[in-house]
This record gives sequence, C-alpha cells and structure tokens, in this order.
Amino acid sequence: MEQTIITAAENYRALDEWLAAKNVKNALLVRDSSYPFLTGIREKLLAVEARGIRLIPFSDFQPNPLYESVVEGVRVFREHACDAVLAIGGGSAIDVAKCIKLYSNLPGDGADGSYLTAPIVENRIPFLAMPTTAGTGSEATRFAVVYYEGAKQSIAHISCIPDCALMDPGALKTLPLYQKKATMADALCHAIESFWSVNSTEESKGYSIRAITGVLEHLDGYLLNDDQANAGMLEAAHFAGKAINITQTTAGHAMCYKITSLFRAAHGHAALLCDRVLYPWMIDHTDLCIDPRGKAYLDGCLNELGKALGGTDARTGADQLRKIFERLKLEIPEATPAQYEELKRGVNPVRLKNFPVALESDVIDALYHQILR
Ligand SMILES: [Fe+2]
Repeated sequence: MEQTIITAAENYRALDEWLAAKNVKNALLVRDSSYPFLTGIREKLLAVEARGIRLIPFSDFQPNPLYESVVEGVRVFREHACDAVLAIGGGSAIDVAKCIKLYSNLPGDGADGSYLTAPIVENRIPFLAMPTTAGTGSEATRFAVVYYEGAKQSIAHISCIPDCALMDPGALKTLPLYQKKATMADALCHAIESFWSVNSTEESKGYSIRAITGVLEHLDGYLLNDDQANAGMLEAAHFAGKAINITQTTAGHAMCYKITSLFRAAHGHAALLCDRVLYPWMIDHTDLCIDPRGKAYLDGCLNELGKALGGTDARTGADQLRKIFERLKLEIPEATPAQYEELKRGVNPVRLKNFPVALESDVIDALYHQILR
C-alpha cells in the first residue's frame, strides 16, 4: 500500500480528512515526552476529541523501548477496543506504535516474548505517524527496534509502515539544538550509508540523493530554526528513511551503537563520527570491494556520492562531509584502551555485511582510533 503523506496546512485539514476516511472513533495515541511542547498538534487533537473522537494516550515507554512496553501498549489498545493507532514522537515512539499495531491481533498476551516469535497476521488497523525530529525516518520504514531481556530485537514487516505520515515542521521548533544536530546527522548518515550499501538499487539511490540534497539545501535555515527549512529537513529525513527501508544501514551504524552507550553521544552524533572516517577510508580500499557489482562500480558510486555532497569526486565529497561534521561542533569522545577493546567487540556483524568493503577486526580497531580521540 502506498503511504499517504499529509501536512499540517490549514489547521491540519488533511488529518481531519484522514480520520474521517478511516472512520476513526477511538484511537490509541502513542506519544513521547516531546508531546507537551507540541502546541500545534496538541491543540488540534483537543479539538478532535471535542468532536467526539476518543484518544487513549499511551506513553509508558522509554527511548530504546522495551518489549514489555509494547505488550502493555497492546493490552491498553485491546482494553479500550481501539480502532486506530496514532504515533507522535521520535523514533522510539513510532517504533513502539509499529509493534503495537503489528501485535494487536496476535493470540495471547505476549508473555515470555511470545509476540516476537509468533507468525504475523497482517491487519489493516489505520496507522498514522507524525515524526517530531528530522532524523530517524522511522515513519517511512518497515523496521522497529525493541529490547527484550537485554537483547536488541529487530522487527521488520511491511505492515509496520504507517499508512499515513503527518509532516509538521512546527514539531521541530522547540527541539534543543544538540538534538536537532544529532537527528539531522542521523538522517544524513542514513542517506549516505544507503547510497553505498551493497543492497542499493536505482530507486534507493534516488531517495538518498533527494535526502542529501535536501539536507545540504536546508542545513543553514534548519540550524536557525526557520520554518521552511525545518519542513525541508523533515522531508529530507523522510527520503533517507525510504532509502534505508530498501537497503538498511551499513558499517557506520554497526559501529556507532557502542559509541552511544559508552559515551552518551546521541545516535546520529555517533553515526556521523563513524561515517566521516569510513568514507575516506573506503576511497582508499575499494580493492577490498565485496559488492557483487565490483570495484569499478564502487569507485563510481563513491564519486557520485561525493558530487551529491557538494564535491567534485569522492575525495572532495568526503572533505565536504568532514566539514559538515566540523560545522556542527559535535564532540569527539576520548576512549581508554579498555573502551577501544569493548568497541571492537561490540560491532553488529549483520550490518557490516551491507558495507561494500570487507572490514577485518584489526581494521575496525584502527578506524575507531580515528573516529575517537
Ligand atoms: Fe540511524
């Protein structure tokens, strides 16, 4: 099913139309801690409730949400006999909502992780997501991440994709500057990693280019909190989400998770720390290409990427990426020998397979020494 994209224009007229078209009477509203700051949509939903549509709030989850929170969300969805799911928030809120939607019609109460292993029974529950950061692009993907018994669970199913995405740049207005920088960096890394991924297609590369072009075009205004630039960045992040929906992410993301947990660097900050080093390293190592399309293809691909980033070829493109990183003034964490050891062991091997150049353990270690201080 094609996803419908709507905007906040004319006092969210398209949202009213969507609610009417789907005959929504009683929706679960999954929202995170940003919600109290979102004056526009909050006031709109108060008006929606005043018309008699019930909205059952659900915010009983944290960033890096637990499976148990999803189980609780499914319980609330069933208890109130909800007929739709609305998600308003960052990636975690949208991921929780995806799982609630996906699991709401499965048998049982989800105890002992049963939803994670049960065969999915597709459902057509109306599902709208409104991202409140220009970052994860989660509203465009079939992926969700939850944690069960300390382990990351990656859920991927076509029915996770919201049938409607509400793009409201007003939501970005009150974001702290660091969060704006880090979420934008995440979107940029999605577009870049998707572009060089071994899974890339003409379609995914088209989305990547649109995302990168959008990031570059709107970066200045976005950092100044200009409404139009915020809208442009939201769209760029959405295209980056569509790109990784096809390809998934690669080594930058595989290597960044441990940086986030060890140094409390936000996810996108950590991803950009990695990609700014991986890109120039790749240019010098395309002879280790594992993309079946071959070394010449990869050389060309990295050149194309460099041009999209505002350079004339791969090398100058990698310089541009480094300049973007420097411009954001994001910190470079300092690691101890023990932390370097932990980083090397903490890389997600599945995502490394999407990276077009073979990465051995000693190379990963050397790269971390360039990524960090
Ligand atoms: Fe990401």
